[in-house]
Amino acid sequence: MHIVHTIPELRAALAAYNAPAFVPTMGNLHDGHIALVQQAKGLGDVTVASIFVNRLQFAPHEDFDTYPRTLVADSEKLAAVGCDIVFAPSEKDLYPEPQGYKVHPPTELADILEGHFRPGFFVGVCTVVLKLFQCVLAQGTGPRTAVFGKKDYQQLMVIRNMVRQLALPIEIVGGETRRADDGLALSSRNGYLSAEERAQAVQLSQALRALAGQALAGGDLAALEAQAVQALDAHGWQTDYLTVRRRGDLQAPTAEQRQAGELVVLGASRLGKTRLIDNFEF
Ligand code: PAF
Repeated sequence: MHIVHTIPELRAALAAYNAPAFVPTMGNLHDGHIALVQQAKGLGDVTVASIFVNRLQFAPHEDFDTYPRTLVADSEKLAAVGCDIVFAPSEKDLYPEPQGYKVHPPTELADILEGHFRPGFFVGVCTVVLKLFQCVLAQGTGPRTAVFGKKDYQQLMVIRNMVRQLALPIEIVGGETRRADDGLALSSRNGYLSAEERAQAVQLSQALRALAGQALAGGDLAALEAQAVQALDAHGWQTDYLTVRRRGDLQAPTAEQRQAGELVVLGASRLGKTRLIDNFEF
């Protein structure tokens, strides 16, 4: 496995290949990331993972400085599953000058849910992802693929939308969320939880499953969502949203669309200092 840090090194390593399959990450890899890399392995002639903690997608009060940087352990995990190239640029390598050109995704998709509670988040994500696509996927003549986890469901939808609107010749593949035995979605941020919080953390996925079931049974959706938030917060959480949306555009479903399915229930809530997100398609 090659570990490269600069864009020229990456391009040289990719020169012999035609169909890169790419998994962008911020490192601190868990089994969910590794499953995405395994998925990518069947999709191209070279598998590339990037590891870059992208300052642009963090607000000043968020955890950019403390986000775990674990390149050695991450590289061992990637080598063990046969990843071919790891692109781990420094900030200077990826942003040698202040990134003045930024990608502003459409507000109706990107300023709701995560984008509402983390203003600017999807500008940072789209900007770095487009730049990483340019570095990893611009070469080659075969099909180019990038794999994103469904755990960050809105991110996956925003990236799909960007690729479609900008006519990028890249297929975006969604990877299923991996869960711990108790049902907690795997996330790098689970490492911030105390033992007591970790035992409690499954309540978020339980609240989402319960809300999905209630939404299918009928009743006023806004009222069901408000009750779900109240019930979770009664256990000491501070919830940003628990909501049922259409899968494709993340807008609220009409009554007929609720009957037809193709929905997703999404949530974000804070337990102590740790903000967790999760979702289920149903
Ligand atoms: O999902 C993530 O880890 C990040 O948002 C991504 C896609 C690597 C961009 O920094």
